[in-house]
Amino acid sequence: MLKNDQLDQWDRDNFFHPSTHLAQFARGDAPNRIVKGGEGVYIEDRDGTRLLDGFAGLYCVNVGYGRTEIAEAIARQAHELAYYHAYVGHGTEASITLAKMILDRAPAHMSKVYFGLGGSDANETNVKLVWYYNNVRGKPQKKKIISRWRGYHGSGLMTGSLTGLELFHKAFDLPLAQVIHTEAPYYFRRDDLDMSEEEFTAHCAAELEALIAREGPETIGAFIGEPLLGTGGIVPPPAGYWEAIQPILKKHDILLIADEVVTGFGRTGSMMGSTHYGLEPDIITIAKGLTSAYAPLSGSIVSDRIWKGLEEGTDALGPIGHGWTYSAHPIGAAAGIANLALIDKLGLVENAGRTGRYFVDAMKTALADHPNVGEVRGEGMLCAVEFVEKKDGRVFFDPDKKIGAAVAGALVREGVIGRAMPQGDILGFAPPLCLSAAEADIIVDKTRTAVASVLG
Ligand SMILES: Cc1ncc(COP(=O)(O)O)c(C=O)c1O
Repeated sequence: MLKNDQLDQWDRDNFFHPSTHLAQFARGDAPNRIVKGGEGVYIEDRDGTRLLDGFAGLYCVNVGYGRTEIAEAIARQAHELAYYHAYVGHGTEASITLAKMILDRAPAHMSKVYFGLGGSDANETNVKLVWYYNNVRGKPQKKKIISRWRGYHGSGLMTGSLTGLELFHKAFDLPLAQVIHTEAPYYFRRDDLDMSEEEFTAHCAAELEALIAREGPETIGAFIGEPLLGTGGIVPPPAGYWEAIQPILKKHDILLIADEVVTGFGRTGSMMGSTHYGLEPDIITIAKGLTSAYAPLSGSIVSDRIWKGLEEGTDALGPIGHGWTYSAHPIGAAAGIANLALIDKLGLVENAGRTGRYFVDAMKTALADHPNVGEVRGEGMLCAVEFVEKKDGRVFFDPDKKIGAAVAGALVREGVIGRAMPQGDILGFAPPLCLSAAEADIIVDKTRTAVASVLG
């Protein structure tokens, strides 16, 4: 930061930042950035530095910054009715309309939306719904949840447990006992380099079968997975993955939760990642792209089958004992309506597919031959560059060298934001879905320069 003023001092003295090296930050050894504005795919900090945001915040500002349609919808809602709760059958025009708009975009067998605030609380809701549903249908032992190593599902007690990344468990006494993890669907990081992609998929399926057999299928309630692995490395599933996994879950009466916090509403180039990859989930988690982060809002979309179970449950037990004060907050709902309408109006799902493909292809052309680039991969408006010390034999860098973070740091000095993914030397991109081909060229060009400055 250029300014060493009072705001900077207050930041160090008072603000507990998430996912931050707290000690370095408080000592002033780590940089801060105080963000002031945004327009299109750019943000601007208070020092006037303009950065192309190649990660759309935390892959959430899908329509881009500065959309007056959404800001005005929020303002109108705040003037008319800033808040009313959704308990015991209350609703607002905004929350009811948004639920209808979501169901219109979800797979046909989905039935209702429960609204929360963020992806973590939505996944907490989902686990409770799985437990409730299985209790109601007389299968009270079916409680364990299978997640994948490198999956990301939030950082609450249960959702931090579902998350399969070391950083989110260390010193937090996680994962909780009800959560078990299986193989990450990450072909590039397979143990056996001689495996084909199809063989690796078969291996993931066999690992899942073995885990279910070890734990006992009668103890397992659900499997949670992102259609495409996000924070674990931005990794499209290996060929035939979901086609191999879903029959195993069906055979053992294990529910499927598709965590679409990242993939929901266009990021893969399809409206929903479930449709993109042929998933038939019982529950879908949505957040981020639902409002493009103009206001906090998440949702749990439940299927007809789950809904019937929930109805039976309340007939037997009374009203469902689950709710947040801010469930279906009207301001979030107003933002969601305006956002989904804008996505349609601007054709952003199509653009994520078209320009996303252009972007990933251009990144491959620019970097795939670099001696320290092991893989460039992506789908829709998602791209990752994974670094290796040596391509031959796929030798990874010593994590202490923090190569991914160094490249992300060099890139920001070039005026582009990419994200050093938390586990491995992986530079991730998830730009706003409105990215143009010219803006994609800038990201690629600056990434090439940043990689060269760190790795030669
Ligand atoms: C797939 C997925 N699920 C859940 C979450 C958690 O969402 P939140 O950070 O809004 O709690 C995230 C956040 O990045 C995510 O990527």
